[in-house]
Amino acid sequence: MRILLLLIVPLFLFSKQDFISDYEYGAMLYENPRGISCVKCHGAKGKGVVIGTYYTTDKKTKKRMVHEVKGADINKKTLEETIASVNRVHDVMPTYSLTNEEVKAIYDYIGKKNR
Ligand code: HEC
Repeated sequence: MRILLLLIVPLFLFSKQDFISDYEYGAMLYENPRGISCVKCHGAKGKGVVIGTYYTTDKKTKKRMVHEVKGADINKKTLEETIASVNRVHDVMPTYSLTNEEVKAIYDYIGKKNR
């Protein structure tokens, strides 16, 4: 009997970690997609945040101008557009090696965040 308990108790203890919901899976990938986190540039709800600013000076007027580099608002994108974008090479956004199922989990997660 004791042996049986020793075998069963650990199963219960660890079983919870094996089963995560689609929402948790999407959140995990969005926040940690084997590379720099999507959250850093697209924000908690995918609406886009300012990543950084830089300045330029107009040669004639000598006026200083502020420019913002922003992550795109990815809320209104379709699943196809999201998959295509994650697989494309961008200027600012890094290229990821995520499967279509992983991008779908991220896409569904962003969708639920905005409901
Ligand atoms: C370093 C900042 C950065 C990170 C990290 C990042 N992105 Fe982006 N993303 C951008 C920028 C900037 C754009 C818009 C310009 C461009 O297309 O490069 C963009 C564009 C997109 C677009 C397309 C929007 C359009 O207008 O077509 C999607 C979808 C997207 N990102 C999803 C993601 C997902 C999903 C992740 C995580 C796996 C991610 N991004 C990580 C900066 C980032």
